[in-house]
Amino acid sequence: AAVKMYQFNIQLRNVSRLCHAKPIVTVNGMFPGPTVYAREGDRVLVNVTNYAQYNMSIHWHGLKQYRNGWADGPAYITQCPIKTGNSYVYDINITGQRGTLWWHAHIFWLRATVYGAIVIMPKQRTPFPFPQPDREDNILLGEWWNNDVEEVVRQGNKLGLPPNMSDAHTINGKPGPLFPCSEKHTFVMEVEQRKTYLLRIVNAALNDELFFAIAGHNLTVVEIDAVYTKPFTTHAILIAPGQTTNVLVQANQVPSRYFMAARAFMDAPLSIDNKTAAAILQYKGIPNTVVPILPQLPAPNDTAFALSYNAKLRSLNSPQFPANVPLKVDRHLFYTAGLGMNSCPTCLNGTRLTASLNNITFVMPQVGLLQAHYFSIKGVFTTDFPDRPPLAFNYTSAPLTANLGTVLGTRLSKIAFNSTVELVLQDTNLLTVESHPFHLHGYNFFVVGTGVGNFNTSKDPAKFNLVDPPERNTVGVPTGGWTAIRFRADNPGVWFMHCHLELHTSWGLKTAFVVENGKGADQSILPPPKDLPSC
Ligand code: C2O
Repeated sequence: AAVKMYQFNIQLRNVSRLCHAKPIVTVNGMFPGPTVYAREGDRVLVNVTNYAQYNMSIHWHGLKQYRNGWADGPAYITQCPIKTGNSYVYDINITGQRGTLWWHAHIFWLRATVYGAIVIMPKQRTPFPFPQPDREDNILLGEWWNNDVEEVVRQGNKLGLPPNMSDAHTINGKPGPLFPCSEKHTFVMEVEQRKTYLLRIVNAALNDELFFAIAGHNLTVVEIDAVYTKPFTTHAILIAPGQTTNVLVQANQVPSRYFMAARAFMDAPLSIDNKTAAAILQYKGIPNTVVPILPQLPAPNDTAFALSYNAKLRSLNSPQFPANVPLKVDRHLFYTAGLGMNSCPTCLNGTRLTASLNNITFVMPQVGLLQAHYFSIKGVFTTDFPDRPPLAFNYTSAPLTANLGTVLGTRLSKIAFNSTVELVLQDTNLLTVESHPFHLHGYNFFVVGTGVGNFNTSKDPAKFNLVDPPERNTVGVPTGGWTAIRFRADNPGVWFMHCHLELHTSWGLKTAFVVENGKGADQSILPPPKDLPSC
């Protein structure tokens, strides 16, 4: 195993898109940021130096950071922010993981421009469990705002209303030629006839689940969230913010230029699609004058596609890569996830939109929760997060008045070391129904079941897939439905769990687990590094 070192300078850079120029926060002046390459078993040291006038913190999304939450990155959860002029070294050990993940700023909405891919190669002499590609490329899907993103958020918070939608989707930071002034802001991937390409696709968008397809070419899904899957072929993929998907593409069509495109899956028939990002797959030797055609993408409200696509995702579950699904459950959790309304004296109308889990809107602490836990600092959080909602109601067809107001608190759930946890996330329609991509830090989990309507405790568990369910770190809870996940709590620390739609996270759709230390010498949280930022 090797030690890899990276230097990340947080700095502003002027970038123009859609005929607007503005300074954005970047890593090393790059947008998207640099790719972190490593091999399974490596130690990666990333020194982050903050030269910008913003507090910063970087999260290594999907890396488990075993016993070492100090390197996880969410601000005020596992560390205090890196202040202007300061540095912090993320000391990351990559064990038992290989594939595509990503890193992003984990403070306010700064991940809008501060993100990049993490590529973990398998151990030496360990081939992929699928046909070896000739070449590979990263495809990072994102969003672009013409306005300053922080300003957009400030306005939203003041009014208590959703901030403006972004102005475009992007592929590798570029919206593509369907937008004004964007001809030169188009990502082009050159391919050679008969070669096979591995695309490492990341959804780094702030608020949109996305469909992605390439005109004329099939995509073979081989991995999600850095876990190998049973390969299947599809004309389009669906990917939620936070998720990654590796696909194989064969350059086996008439040599030409083909669009690849990404647009939102929004569930809402009202959604106006004016944000489709396009990039070009260009066969070698074909002139730039050839006009590409757009791929067929599922309609923005195509829930049938979403359901059937997600149902095809299965862990590879081979002898070499078994799916170790917990069969017995020590701790059953049931969390409702929904939007609500809270009073807000400074807001328009005196109320503001809010979000909650089990009716609790999470309040960000002033001190890192991991520090508070490790050093037993009192008064920062409580561990009385309820295992189920305070009152049962008809979650998916509740009257607008049920449970609409929420309780504020920094309440966490305490989990015994190595216990097996089943968590059912139940979407509610208190205000509107939305799909919520939930991300758990420090773990992968198995998605053992999902369904529409209310979760039925007596009938639904019988239908769980305990053999080869998809294993991932971010999962969509369907609109007006539920998703059940299982994991073994073998990673001690404080681990954030939240909706990866930045809008909902900022409204409080988040909580954290305190996983206790085990008895063994190697089953407790490692001591914090000396340079850990203080608040
Ligand atoms: Cu990718 Cu807590 O997030």
